[in-house]
Amino acid sequence: MISPFSFDDPVFTVLDQRELPENEVSIPCTSADMVADAIRTLAVRGAPAIGIAAAFGCALAARSGRGELERASRILVESRPTAVNLAWAVKRVNDAVKDLPETELYSRALHEARMIWEEEKAANEAMANLGSGLFPEGKKHTVLTHCNAGSLATGGIGTALGVIRMLHARGKLERVYMDETRPLLQGSRITAYEMKRSGIPCTLITDNMAGWLMRLRKIDAVIVGADRIARNLDAANKIGTYSLAVLAKAHSIPFYIAAPLSTFDPDIESGEEIPIEERDACEVRSFRGKPCAPDVEVFNPAFDMTGHELITAIITERQVFYPGEASIHSGKAGL
Ligand code: MRU
Repeated sequence: MISPFSFDDPVFTVLDQRELPENEVSIPCTSADMVADAIRTLAVRGAPAIGIAAAFGCALAARSGRGELERASRILVESRPTAVNLAWAVKRVNDAVKDLPETELYSRALHEARMIWEEEKAANEAMANLGSGLFPEGKKHTVLTHCNAGSLATGGIGTALGVIRMLHARGKLERVYMDETRPLLQGSRITAYEMKRSGIPCTLITDNMAGWLMRLRKIDAVIVGADRIARNLDAANKIGTYSLAVLAKAHSIPFYIAAPLSTFDPDIESGEEIPIEERDACEVRSFRGKPCAPDVEVFNPAFDMTGHELITAIITERQVFYPGEASIHSGKAGL
């Protein structure tokens, strides 16, 4: 399984996902600032992966003492606003070292970062098992996914792609259709790359083809990841997810989200409170430095929010939630 990063003390190396699929380029990070820059520029991306990267960024900062850890934590949390995994992981590392002497900061912070990574990997496996169980036996299913919720977004087998991998392993997958996912093409550059490497039958489509595919009855289910889930189970994910959920509803197709509990935000009641990142206009006006539009005004939200009423089920590592049922009113620990 391809990994978005590796750690060889004291260097946290990120695979630069902006270069995929043509080049496998590594970025060795030796400071929290370098990790924050990799997150901001999408060299490393995907909610769980940026949480893990931020945790290692905190560990690198902790080598220089508590003051540096505090400064770096602020920079890391601010590097991207939507995925709650980022703030969650930074808080976890800070809480773990809270009462420790300076001499123990680095080793304890590093231990916590490694634990977060291990836990995300285990969560991916558990979601794959639970999620694949939602698909009836005795039939091969054709699913549609959006963006990249795979190994490169999680450091494990993936959330949505973990479920798809498990369906394939169990002989229950006919094919996965992958939206290319404009503007940055995480679907065509990264999901297609992962699926091809794993030998999973896959077909690439442009984003505007999904509705017609559903109309042709080629899609049995939609499955995507998430960046932040509110207490009422509204979920933010890559821009275009909301349109897919509406289309799925219109065609009576189940719409599934697979996301670890680290993606749940116990502090917000509904998706209306989720901060939606807006990125630079150049991502829409050009691709890899080549213009594909004149110099016009651009709106470039990186995420959208899907109301819980459009979500058939949310698969976590612990249980499957059916958003039509009662909302969660307890914190993460109580889920
Ligand atoms: O902007 P990105 O590429 O970080 O957006 C990623 C997504 O929207 C993913 O679907 C989400 O983080 C889930 S990853 C398991």
